[in-house]
Amino acid sequence: MSALRIALVGAGGVAQRHARVLAGFDDVELVAVADVDPARAAEVAGAVGAAALGSVDEVLERARPDAVYVCVPPFAHGAIEGAVLAAGLPMFVEKPLAADLPTAERLAAAVADAGVITATGYHWRHLDTLAHLREQVGEGSASPAVAAAGHWVGKVAPVGWWAQRSGSGGQVVEQATHVVDALRVLMGEVVSVQALAARAGVAGPADDDGVIDDAVVALLRFASGAVATLEVSCVADRLVRAGVSVSAAGAAWVLEEDRLTRVAGGDAEVRVPAVDARVAVDRAFVDAVRAGDPSLVAVDVAEALRTHRVACAVVEAAATGRVVALGGADGPGAAVGVGGTVDVVLTRPAGGALAPAAR
Ligand SMILES: NC(=O)c1ccc[n+]([C@@H]2O[C@H](COP(=O)([O-])OP(=O)(O)OC[C@H]3O[C@@H](n4cnc5c(N)ncnc54)[C@H](O)[C@@H]3O)[C@@H](O)[C@H]2O)c1
Repeated sequence: MSALRIALVGAGGVAQRHARVLAGFDDVELVAVADVDPARAAEVAGAVGAAALGSVDEVLERARPDAVYVCVPPFAHGAIEGAVLAAGLPMFVEKPLAADLPTAERLAAAVADAGVITATGYHWRHLDTLAHLREQVGEGSASPAVAAAGHWVGKVAPVGWWAQRSGSGGQVVEQATHVVDALRVLMGEVVSVQALAARAGVAGPADDDGVIDDAVVALLRFASGAVATLEVSCVADRLVRAGVSVSAAGAAWVLEEDRLTRVAGGDAEVRVPAVDARVAVDRAFVDAVRAGDPSLVAVDVAEALRTHRVACAVVEAAATGRVVALGGADGPGAAVGVGGTVDVVLTRPAGGALAPAAR
């Protein structure tokens, strides 16, 4: 079978990683890299022998790829995916699906209509350590998780869009979404969210509503009855910790991207992932497209949307000070009677086409 022709749209940090990984696959040919910044496109394309282009439209017309990676910042999703879907091509969309919820809902609806294979950048799902922990504490295990604490304690990311609410959606949506996703894997669906946010003037002027919060803490209730906290902040000068502590009857664990540590129950144990999840996530997408088998993908757009809804519920809860209810995996946001009074029910926006691809 001939090589799978892949194009990247967006040539920033994460695109460079995907380009490097994909260039290492024998059955992939990188045919184009597009960016609104021609110098970036040229740099990344030049490194892998691909054509440097300026837009998704150019990619589709001139490079004729078999599949497209969308590696743009959260604010730039929508029109690009619309163009790829109109061409009927499979696509890999970097997380988060969007800076907001309505764009992501429209994107997922358009993907469902198009019926193409999709994958997303939730690479933690490829960690064998996460799978192992799920066996220990997941739903249906002998000792399911009762409580967890998710953390993403770090610094302001050095890209201009990151500290803008409209650019990234905030740190929970953009970054801690990996941790929210891991919590869903371990504890099932979130049914209600409460949150508080703090401003310290680190991400930007504390009185500028366009700037993201410096810290957000949240309380999550799961359909199982389990509970979790989330602590997210960007006021340090480096990444301090990102991961999840989980406790179940008789045992406790800490999961980070590079290790899983048993801290109670049995002998102390540290497991290091046997797979490089940042490679596995690309391999799975390529395999799925080549085989025409969507089941090979860990987190497609529909599944990524479920995590994005939880992250957006945290944002909503922090902004309003209210309890926000979610409707479980695919519910439209029906209120569920679990602890506390539900003030806000997130509802799906009316469907609608993605914006046209002109950009
Ligand atoms: N899965 C992961 O581990 C991981 C790691 C890093 C970043 N990301 C995600 O990847 C996305 C991009 O992050 P980044 O660090 O690469 O950002 P970046 O700012 O380094 O790069 C984004 C690039 O997209 C380009 N761009 C913007 N709008 C465009 C458009 N309409 N068409 C073409 N190009 C456009 C920009 O010019 C820029 O070069 C973010 O959503 C981020 O959360 C994921």
